[in-house]
Formats: sequence, structure tokens, C-alpha cells
Amino acid sequence: MHVLVTGGAGFIGSNFVHLTHATRPEVRLTVLDAFTYAGDRASLLGLDDRVDIVEGDITDAETVDRLVGAADVVVHFAAESHNDNSLAAPAPFVHTNLVGTYTLLEAVRKYDVRYHHISTDEVYGDLELDDPERFSEATPYNPSSPYSATKAGSDLLVRAWVRSFGVRATISNCSNNYGPRQHVEKFIPRQITNVIDGVRPKLYGDGLNVRDWIHVDDHNRAVWTIIEHGQIGETYLIGADGEHNNRQVVEQLLVAMGQDAKDYDLVTDRAGHDRRYAIDSAKLCRELGWQPQFSDFTAGLIDTIDWYRANESWWRPQKAAAEAKYAGQHVIG
Ligand code: NAD
Ligand code: DAU
Repeated sequence: MHVLVTGGAGFIGSNFVHLTHATRPEVRLTVLDAFTYAGDRASLLGLDDRVDIVEGDITDAETVDRLVGAADVVVHFAAESHNDNSLAAPAPFVHTNLVGTYTLLEAVRKYDVRYHHISTDEVYGDLELDDPERFSEATPYNPSSPYSATKAGSDLLVRAWVRSFGVRATISNCSNNYGPRQHVEKFIPRQITNVIDGVRPKLYGDGLNVRDWIHVDDHNRAVWTIIEHGQIGETYLIGADGEHNNRQVVEQLLVAMGQDAKDYDLVTDRAGHDRRYAIDSAKLCRELGWQPQFSDFTAGLIDTIDWYRANESWWRPQKAAAEAKYAGQHVIG
């Protein structure tokens, strides 16, 4: 099987490539990645000739046509992925997430190639802290940020191409991932690397926003489950019952790194900041038999801290630029 992986030099895509390479010797992989600030060749070291790496843009129809035509399956991870960046400059989000997905859909339609679309729980908007409901496949779309609006739009393009053109596609909407090789602009790596640098972690607003954390390998195993057993045209939500508020995450992280649990700052809140995400993944578990393997968030967090401690050469070149983007944030508590 030959799998084209867009965004394979990013956080989740590179973990997908490493997991597949290590566990599925029969699979050949081609990575298509534009190597934006978020893509890193160092995330794809240690692979053999079963993996090809192509530098190119998913909005470039000629490149996409050539690579999709040679693939059996496309797994589409490539995206502009960071909410804060989408608030500062939405244009690349519209271009990559919408035009890029459209370009891939036209190619998989032309060659009748199986397509799996990676998306996010953020398309559903947010929940109140005390809401007993969680997101399910039936929850109406209600995105809040330019990032989540473009992801929602890309999901709807996929649904339209399935219905109108018979494209063989599935969609998954996953909750917040953590694990190795996540860019230092994101919450958990930012705080781990701040603590390593002797800087106090920064929590937006009151720090009580809730995210539903899942280890990146559990996400990627679910993606393989859907590629192999998912029903064409269906959407599957991926989550691991990992709800924690941001204070809880930072306090665990500080303690695990030998600091006082309260040694953090509250800073200016994110505009439109979603309060809570929570995923009900019953459909994926019941219909396709997937179960997460990382049940202990604290243990997964400690592994992730260890990875950042051991791989400073991977993240250090990005750290100053990532922090410069946060320079306008002020301590409020
Ligand atoms: P990331 O920002 O770490 O990686 C994105 C990758 O896409 C990078 O390698 C980048 O170079 C590449 N890319 C960007 N624009 C491109 C373009 N025009 N052409 C080709 N390549 C391009 O993102 P991530 O966190 O790994 O997220 C991957 C996917 O998973 C995204 O679709 C995101 O919406 C989705 N997702 C992420 C999470 C999460 O917690 N990070 C959760 C659910 C879903
Ligand atoms: O839910 C899935 C989504 O998770 C993905 O679709 C996105 O691609 C991914 O970036 C992530 O979005 P979030 O906005 O939830 O992730 P982020 O890491 O930016 O922030 C997580 C929480 O931490 C959120 O409540 C904002 C907060 N935060 C973030 C940063 C960077 C802080 O309190 N301080 C920070 O410095």
C-alpha cells in the first residue's frame, strides 16, 4: 500500500509517519509538506527508503495531481493549525485549509483514491464547564476562530465531494493532542520549554478552560482504524476521556519538573477563547473497536517532558521566534 501523507513533517503527521514506518513494513509512504515554520526535516530523521519526502504545497494542483495519482490512500494532515496565529493573520488559514483541501479533493476525485481527512473537535465550537453533554457526530458545527472556521469549511467540502462526486472519503475530528515533536507555540510544549528556560508558564485568562487531551499515538492508531475499517462518507470523533483544565495541566507539569505547583502567571486572554472541548468517541469504539492505549495522562505528560528535555536541539531553534509572537501578552494575575 502506498500512502500519501500531507503535512507529514508537522507534529501529528510526523508521528503518523514514524508509527506507520515502525509497525507496518508493507506500507510505503510519501510525505508532501511545504515545510512552513511548523514543518521540520528533523522530525523525519531515522526513516529508511520506504519513506519519500517531497517539498511542495497542497495548493499546487500539478504537484498534488502527480502525487495523488501514484497513491492508494491520501491522509490529509497538512494545515495551518494554531488558533493564536489565525487571530493575528487569517489569510494563510483560508488558503491552506480551504484551497488546499479543495485541491486534494479534486485529485482524489480524478484518480478515485481513498481519502482520509484529519480534522478537529473545534468545528463544534465550545461547551459550558458544567454542560453534561459532550461533542458527538450529531453536534451542529459552530466554529469560533478563523482556524476552526476554515477546518469546518474543509470538512464540509469533503462531505460535498462524497455526496456529489462519490469520492471515497472519511473524516475524523480529534481532540487536543500531546506528545513528542509538537511545536513550541502550543500550550504543553510552550510551558515545558518555559520551565526548562526558568520562565514561569503563561495561562490565558483565568486558566480554567478545559481541553480533552489525547496522546498523539492514540490519535494516529485511530486514524489507521478508520482507514482500514471506516465506512465511506462517515465521520468519527476521536477522544480519550482526557478532560483537564489548563491550571491542572500546568500544575502537574510544574510538580513533575520539580517546581512549586503555583509558580505560573495568568496573562491576557485569547480573543474568542473556547471554554471547553469534550469528545464522546462511542461511535469509533463501538463500531470500529478502537480503544486508546494511553489511559494515564500524568504518565504521558512525564514522557513528553522527558522528550523535550532530551531533544533540546529539536525545539531550541524555534523557541525565540515562538515567544516573540507572544510578546504582547501581559500578566494579569
Ligand atoms: P502542525 O502545525 O504541527 O503541522 C502542520 C504541517 O502542515 C507542517 O508540517 C506544515 O509545514 C504543513 N503545511 C502547512 N501548510 C502547508 C501547505 N500549504 N502545503 C503543504 N504542507 C503544509 O499541525 P498538527 O498539530 O500536526 O495538526 C495536523 C492536523 O491535525 C491539522 O489538520 C489539524 O487541524 C489537525 N488536528 C490537530 C490537533 C492538535 O491537537 N494538534 C487536534 C485535532 C486535529
Ligand atoms: O482541539 C483540537 C485543537 O487543539 C486543534 O485543532 C488545534 O490545531 C490545536 O492547536 C489545539 O487548539 P487549542 O487552541 O486548544 O491549543 P493550544 O495549545 O493553542 O491551547 C490549549 C489551551 O491552552 C487553550 O485553552 C489555550 C491555552 N493556552 C495556550 C497557550 C499557547 C494558554 O493558556 N497559554 C498558552 O501559552
